[in-house]
Formats: sequence, structure tokens, C-alpha cells
Amino acid sequence: MFNVRMEGFRFSSQLFIWLIAVCIGVSSGFEFKHHDNQELFNVLRDVNIKCKNITRVYALNEGSVLGIPLYVIEFSTKPGRHEVLKPEFKYIANMHGNEVLGRELLLKLADYLCDEYRTGNPHIKELIETTRIHLMPSMNPDGWQLATDTGGHDYLIGRTNNNSVDLNRNFPDLDRIVFDNEYENSDKNNHLLEQLTKLNDPLQPETRAVIRLIMQIPFVLSANLHGGDLVANYPYDESRSGSQSNEYAATPDDETFRHLALAYSSRHPDMASQHRKGCVDSQFAKQGGITNGAQWYSLQGGMQDFNYLSSNDFELTLELGCEKYPPPEDLQLEWERNKEALINYIWQSHIGIKGVVYDAKTKQPISNAIIHVANVTGVESIDIKHDITSVYGGDYYRLLTPGTYKVTVYKDGYVPHTKLVTVTNPSFTQALRVDFPLKATHGHHHNNHKHPFHSSKVIILFNRKLRTNMPRVIEIGPHGWRKGSQF
Ligand SMILES: *[C@@H]1O[C@H](CO)[C@@H](O)[C@H](O)[C@H]1NC(C)=O
Ligand SMILES: *[C@@H]1O[C@H](CO)[C@@H](O)[C@H](O)[C@H]1NC(C)=O
Ligand SMILES: *[C@@H]1O[C@H](CO)[C@@H](O)[C@H](O)[C@H]1NC(C)=O
Ligand SMILES: [Zn+2]
Repeated sequence: MFNVRMEGFRFSSQLFIWLIAVCIGVSSGFEFKHHDNQELFNVLRDVNIKCKNITRVYALNEGSVLGIPLYVIEFSTKPGRHEVLKPEFKYIANMHGNEVLGRELLLKLADYLCDEYRTGNPHIKELIETTRIHLMPSMNPDGWQLATDTGGHDYLIGRTNNNSVDLNRNFPDLDRIVFDNEYENSDKNNHLLEQLTKLNDPLQPETRAVIRLIMQIPFVLSANLHGGDLVANYPYDESRSGSQSNEYAATPDDETFRHLALAYSSRHPDMASQHRKGCVDSQFAKQGGITNGAQWYSLQGGMQDFNYLSSNDFELTLELGCEKYPPPEDLQLEWERNKEALINYIWQSHIGIKGVVYDAKTKQPISNAIIHVANVTGVESIDIKHDITSVYGGDYYRLLTPGTYKVTVYKDGYVPHTKLVTVTNPSFTQALRVDFPLKATHGHHHNNHKHPFHSSKVIILFNRKLRTNMPRVIEIGPHGWRKGSQF
């Protein structure tokens, strides 16, 4: 009798513990391992179920060569749309299929952001409330499969997509255009797809899908996660002279890019450490764990420079470790080592200034206005020859390091408006807000300022150009972003 009772009690208490474990499992069931392409989707789906009101899972409008969808999970308090004054951020990983750490880090990051939001971590809540974050764990699921099926040990197997194309060499080479412009003394340094007349190589489906993402969502900041070294790499990746390496190729935003790279490396336990051994024989530790791309080695057709030269986005390439395919037992430690850096870097989408450009009389927002900045911190005024544009709600985001700047906004049919601003960038706060009401010029003539481009026209042109190569509808996912809808 007694024994039976005990057994019954023990049984039900075990059941109780098991039930609790199941319940806890729902909120912290993340397992550190190499998730295959199906499991990758399952993790994103589970996060979406747990955090329904702040996430959305979408697939790009084209999948990989072998037809695997390219999934993204988005975090926002209004999933599915751009909000005025809320910067957009993205991480893309596993573009080289055999470089797999970033893929697992982004899956864990998605799970972490969701859990911390739910348990009320004020820092993460604020980040999600003020930023729209897109995480794409794999841009090359086919390469991942091949690398994994062959043991994950080879330096090259699985790097390319299934057509043997290196996706980080497959983007339109806008660096060549910008270098030609510099040579011809033209200031044009942004939104350069308009000047693209030919593609050197046919675009791969994975590349096309990501280009459309870049064109449709007004990203401010992003990073592309790789492996094989330990360094934060910043533009340009291509040298001006054609030299293979050792030629620093500075952008007009060199100061800002160095700051961004340090924002990652300095929060990582070893990336910036003076004492660590390099992966091959690199000098990076002595440079704070950062490098200019072309200074390291020059490449054409990379995704990082494409972002900077085709859109308002600033992108880095993060090399997360010597080992491209670390064993599963290292993944949890690697997460702990990268967690703070990953989150601190997302916060950088709030440096500098942001605001709304609008018609002073009608109060209507003005998109495609040009935001030009001169650095007047020192004795002389230095033009930063890389303009950004206002987006759909008239909102603009201009990443800047601390200093004093003369900011001028141009738009056809309006009088240019200049403001002097001082940027200090206190940590973990939103960008300084600077709005620009513009007065219409009298009469119907347009003032011919020196930046005659319109990003909307560029997108149409670009789509037409793409269509001659590959007839596809311009549509981003199964969840309702179509041509004609806002995004
Ligand atoms: C999402 O749901 C949680 C839990 O119900 C709630 O606390 C939070 O405020 C909601 N967030 C948004 C952005 O709706
Ligand atoms: C393409 O995928 C097939 C099927 O998985 C595989 O056998 C082949 O090796 C792949 N080719 C390349 C170049 O990755
Ligand atoms: C502007 O100049 C100051 C002083 O030289 C410098 O610290 C700052 O980083 C510069 N800003 C940018 C965005 O280049
Ligand atoms: Zn790589």
C-alpha cells in the first residue's frame, strides 16, 4: 500500500517536472548544434511562434539554385513595414556555404532577442522598439549542404553556390564605376546602379534575391558574417589601382567605417587583443582587430561595397574565427564570445543624425532628397563625398562619428536647406534628430543642382536591366511584398 502510494507520488512528481521542462523548453529549447536547412527554418518558425507580435519570417523572392528558400526573420514592434524614423538593420551569414559559425550565431541571436524581449530585458526591449532588425542565417544553403556532407573540413568545398559561383564576387562591380567617377572628377559616389551598363557575370539567384532586398528595404547598417580569419573588414574591398593587396582603399566615410569596425572588434574578447596569434600570419590584432578590405586583399563584386555604393546602407564583413566549420561543441562558447559584439553593432544604426525632410508649406514628406554633409570639426571644412537620400516617409539616417557638421538637403524644385549640427553619440540612445522643412522654389523651373538622381528611377531601371537577363517578377516573398506595394 505504502509502496504503491510512494510510486504513484514519485510518478506524478516526475510527470510534473517533465511538464515543467516541456514548458521551459518552449522558451529556451535552443540547442547548440549545426542546424540543417530544414532545422534552420524550424528555429525561425519557433521563434516566430514564441514572439508573434514582434517577429515575422519571410523568404526572399528567389531561393537557392537547388530551390532552398532564403529565409529571413525580422524583429520589430510593427513587423512587416518600414516605420518613419526607425533605422533598418540586417545581418546576413553563410554566404560562403562552408563558413558556418555566423549561421548558428544568427539562429541563437533570434532566439535570444525573443526570450529577452519576453522576459523584459530593458536593453533588448529598447533595441527592438527603436530598430527594425533583419536576420538571414544563410545566403548559401546549397553550399552549406555540400560542405556538411563532405565533413566540413575543406577550406574551399561548399564555398560557392551550386553553380560553382562565389557569391561574394557576383555582385555588380560598382567600385569600378566610383573609381572612374573619381578619375573624371565627378562627385557621384552613391546610388550607382543608374550608371551600371553591363554585368560582367550573370547574376546568381541568391545574388539577385539579395539585391532586391537591398533595393526594397532602406537599410542603414548591416554586416556580412564570414569565417576563416578573425577581423572586422570595412570598405572598400577593391583597390583603386588593381593591386592585389597592401593598398588602402578609403571611402569618403573612412572615419565612420573604422568606428563601426571597432564597435564590433572591441566588444569581442580576442578580435582586438594585442596578444593573440593571428590565424595565418596576419597583423590584424595590432590594428585593433580591423582592416580595410583592399589593404588586406582586393576583390571585385563583393556584397559589402555593393551595399554602400547602391543604397544608403553601410556594411562590414565580419570574419568570426580561424576555423570555418567549428565543431558543434564550440558553438555555445562562440555565442558567448560574440553576443555582446553582435548586439553592440546593431546599436550602431543609431549613431549620427536622423530626421524627416518635408515640404515646409504642405508638411508632406519628401523622399529621395539628397543629404550632403561637410565635416567642419577641424579648421577647414571637409566635404564627405557620399550622399545619402531620404526614404519613403521623408526620413533619412546619416551615420556619423562625433564632430560638427554642416548638413545640406537638396531636392529638385526646393531651396536647399543647411543646418549646423554637433554629434556626440552617447551610447545606446537614438540618433540626434534633425528635421529639414524645405521651401518650394518659385515658378516651375527645376534648379539643376549637381546630384540629379532619383532612387525610384534607379530601381525601375535596374529591374528592367535585370529582366533582360532573367524574366522574373519583382517580388520579395510569399508574404505580400509585391511590386507596387510600399515595400
Ligand atoms: C507583445 O506581447 C507582449 C506579451 O503579451 C506584450 O508585453 C508586448 O507589449 C507586446 N509588444 C508589442 C510590440 O505589441
Ligand atoms: C550541386 O548539388 C548536387 C546535389 O546535391 C551535388 O551533387 C553537386 O556536387 C553540387 N555541385 C556544386 C558545384 O556544388
Ligand atoms: C570629422 O572630423 C573630426 C576631426 O578630425 C573627426 O574626429 C571625425 O571622425 C570626422 N567625421 C567623419 C564622419 O569623418
Ligand atoms: Zn567568406
